[in-house]
Amino acid sequence: MFDAASFIEESAQKMKDEIDDIAIIACSGGVDSTVAAVIANQAIGDRLHCVYVDTGLMRKNETKEIQDMLAAHGLNLTTIFAEDRYFEALGDVTEPERKRKIIGELFIRIFEEEQEKVGAKYLVQGTIAPDWIESGGGVRDTIKSHHNVGGLPEDMTLEVVEPLRDLYKDEVRDLARELKIRVADRQPFPGPGLAVRCLGPLTKERVHVVREACAIVEEELEAAAAEGKMEIPWQYFAALLPVRSVGVHGDVRAYGETVVVRAVQSLDGMSARYSTIPHDVLAKISTRITNTVKGAVNRVVYDITHKPPGTIEWE
Ligand code: XMP
Repeated sequence: MFDAASFIEESAQKMKDEIDDIAIIACSGGVDSTVAAVIANQAIGDRLHCVYVDTGLMRKNETKEIQDMLAAHGLNLTTIFAEDRYFEALGDVTEPERKRKIIGELFIRIFEEEQEKVGAKYLVQGTIAPDWIESGGGVRDTIKSHHNVGGLPEDMTLEVVEPLRDLYKDEVRDLARELKIRVADRQPFPGPGLAVRCLGPLTKERVHVVREACAIVEEELEAAAAEGKMEIPWQYFAALLPVRSVGVHGDVRAYGETVVVRAVQSLDGMSARYSTIPHDVLAKISTRITNTVKGAVNRVVYDITHKPPGTIEWE
């Protein structure tokens, strides 16, 4: 039986002994990096510099929520607002792997700039066991290059400290609950953010559309689950497709894009089954999306593909 309280105490003590200078950690707001940061903060306090990069590809209100959450745990946080840099770097790239590479590389550049500014000697990372088990051995094909805040370059001259290295996700969630971290049970969100949910040209306007659509899907499915109409899916979101179709707005012909709603049940993301959603819930989602982003979207579809053969995200 995993004893979260003892793990936290021992891990904080170990870091206190080990880290004798300034340390830096990249915080994404996800459960792994948040748990690692909160424990490291218990060990070394303000000598830990937390860096959160707002890529402009985050969910609705997410930056504020992450800032508030990290502040509530007393972390020494710097937020880098980098939306313009990301959109400039991504330009008119639409190929999924290119997008992922550009986003990952820019993240590293921004993080290195911060590391130099604060003069960090140590890098604390929220790496957990599946991260290094899955990346070792090259047994699998790369289906998608995953970008995580953990994926920093090996040639960094920092000493790496990984307090969660031997843990599995459910154990990290136990730690999060013990530490009263709010994101303990939030659904997964991909490192490259809304970029992989915005197929076709990546413009601020189109990312705005998918951000609103994702928020509506989250709200409606969480409300339906709270009312006992359905089980909450493991992951649920929307993606914007560059597929135009003819519709009507009032009496006027419209030529808008398509939003696809995705909701799946899964244990670990490796395989998944699409979720069954009551039709009235789907209808409400559809109406809200087309009303919220008037003109931009005039068709909403539901994805009924399992993984495999599909993946959970569309890119
Ligand atoms: P796919 O789309 O490959 O996704 O079926 C499986 C799970 O992984 C998430 N995902 C990512 N998570 N960095 C992450 O940390 C990434 O680059 C990334 N890409 C996909 C996806 O949301 C799903 O939960």
